[in-house]
Amino acid sequence: MTTPSTSDTPRTAEENVLRTAHTADAAPAELAAARALMDLAFDGDFSDEDWTHGLGGMHAFVHDREGTLLAHGSVVQRRVLHNGRSLRAGYVEAVAVRPDRQRQGLGGQIMGALEGIIERAYDLGALSPSDEGEKLYRAHGWVTWTGRVGTLGPNGVEHMPDEDPPMLWNSGLDPAHPLLIDWRDGDVF
Ligand SMILES: CC(C)(COP(=O)(O)OP(=O)(O)OC[C@H]1O[C@@H](n2cnc3c(N)ncnc32)[C@H](O)[C@@H]1OP(=O)(O)O)[C@@H](O)C(=O)NCCC(=O)NCCS
Repeated sequence: MTTPSTSDTPRTAEENVLRTAHTADAAPAELAAARALMDLAFDGDFSDEDWTHGLGGMHAFVHDREGTLLAHGSVVQRRVLHNGRSLRAGYVEAVAVRPDRQRQGLGGQIMGALEGIIERAYDLGALSPSDEGEKLYRAHGWVTWTGRVGTLGPNGVEHMPDEDPPMLWNSGLDPAHPLLIDWRDGDVF
């Protein structure tokens, strides 16, 4: 006999609901819940500017059957200049799982959904990992970029030798050539 889930029994992945939606189609309450999840999961170390970096693209949400948000991640389009080409990168942002529901595969579920979107819509995936996230991404085939990085900023190309390298997915980029990403307010990577 299957034991019914209670509030203190971990739920199986099948009991949760995975949904993807563009920012424009997500309900304001759903976005507000995701913003609040960032504060919880990053322990207050997630700014409003960080949040805006994850808007304007596709979100993946995992809710439980009662509608509580358990996990979130988003992928937005950015331009990567590399070896004479301008590539459409799906940049992953705002990946977080409720602290009491981590290590149950929810982060992997979010990444699976975002990787499907990257595969269908972008030339490559890119992200800037937290220490906690890096292991998860590596397990999903993301690799640390070993070449130089920089940005095309308001004053032209700026090389960023001290920047922590991003991780890439399905990129095939050549580390002999620098990766220049588009400029944005806040952290460029
Ligand atoms: C990073 C983060 C998103 C990972 O989410 P998660 O739901 O714990 O991820 P998963 O459960 O899919 O995988 C994490 C680990 O749990 C393991 N795991 C997966 N399902 C499991 C299960 N049912 N039971 C036990 N372990 C499990 C995975 O194998 C993985 O193990 P590993 O770290 O030893 O490789 C989460 O820790 C988080 O929100 N951290 C704070 C915010 C953050 O740093 N976000 C990333 C920003 S780049």
